[in-house]
Amino acid sequence: MVDWDKVRKEFPISENSVYFQSAAMSPLPTPVFEAIVHEYRKLCLYGDVNWTDDMARFGKLCASLAELINTEADNVTFVQNTSTVMSLLALSFKNQVKKPFNIVSMKDEFPASTVGFEYQNIDMRYVGPVDARYPVESILDMTDGETLAVVTSQVQYATGFRQDVRALGQELKGRGILFIVNATQAFPYFPVDVKASSIDVLTASLHKWGLAGHIGTMFFTTTEFREKFPSPIAGWLSVDTEGGSFIHTDKNAPFRLLISARRYEFGTFNLQPLLAFEKALDFIKAIGIENIQERLFDLTDYLIQGLQNLKITVISPVARREERSAIVCFTLGERNRAFVKKCAEKKIFLTLRDGNIRVSVNIFNNFFDIDLLIDVLRTFG
Ligand SMILES: Cc1ncc(COP(=O)(O)O)c(C=O)c1O
Repeated sequence: MVDWDKVRKEFPISENSVYFQSAAMSPLPTPVFEAIVHEYRKLCLYGDVNWTDDMARFGKLCASLAELINTEADNVTFVQNTSTVMSLLALSFKNQVKKPFNIVSMKDEFPASTVGFEYQNIDMRYVGPVDARYPVESILDMTDGETLAVVTSQVQYATGFRQDVRALGQELKGRGILFIVNATQAFPYFPVDVKASSIDVLTASLHKWGLAGHIGTMFFTTTEFREKFPSPIAGWLSVDTEGGSFIHTDKNAPFRLLISARRYEFGTFNLQPLLAFEKALDFIKAIGIENIQERLFDLTDYLIQGLQNLKITVISPVARREERSAIVCFTLGERNRAFVKKCAEKKIFLTLRDGNIRVSVNIFNNFFDIDLLIDVLRTFG
């Protein structure tokens, strides 16, 4: 049994507000905050001397993330954000694909998933939602013989709808269509098996559910994908120095990029907070991912019941647990903005997304937090 009160105590934010905004960014638990301070203290006292060891630790971190999504360590690295990933893919497709092609995505997709492709004038086709859901069949219906890839969020940011990526991935594989998943609103609380789901590329910006701030985006690619669609850009850390000095100093001399996903590191990155993410991952694993999922369902069940008792329109598709996540959206119509403001005055923080009210629950929230929100709803004039 998890002691949820103990977990809550690790999040100082719970002492000064009721925070339902983790889908925008999660607050830090104390052990992660201390780990960040520790990493910067090392930098303060010892400068760069730990760089090699720290890079080895970063490699181990990628290996633990790889394990969570059932792939090999070589297939995982970090880049700055999901927008960068999608832009890299767009450039690569433009460079490599010589015949006409289109990409199918979702109408409600967070723009990080789509702007990079549209900017390269790639033919984007958008599937419309059906009652805030994206049934696999309606995505497949939108594909045709020229569809190169389907790009979808595992969990939609504005409704919390969780896609059945395994079913979709298997269908796409059968049709020879690439499967690109943005797991930002899901990972690491709802990790997917990239092999079983035939995912070619997965990105997860970790400031939502990684509990460590803006540390960047976990970026998974298969070996086959990297071979077929070489990185459109490179930097000194992308180069395979084949056991020589790790710096490729020759000029006008041929070089190859690393075969592994580490080719996408390009150059130095924000290592200190990323290393503190090790602590966040340990914290999450110590609670247990299945326990976390159960807790999120218990809290959101309670919230949904409270909303339904008050006859409030729930926007999120909530009928099937396997389509749910930590996000629940509802609407009071014209009064949404005023309600969010009223809550903020009472230090209850939630957000407007797509015009609706988005509540996202996290492991530090409890039933009393939800009671407070429901009380405001009950008395909101
Ligand atoms: C589904 C989704 N993807 C990506 C992002 C962030 O994109 P980026 O990593 O490019 O800042 C967000 C929210 O900020 C999001 O909700």
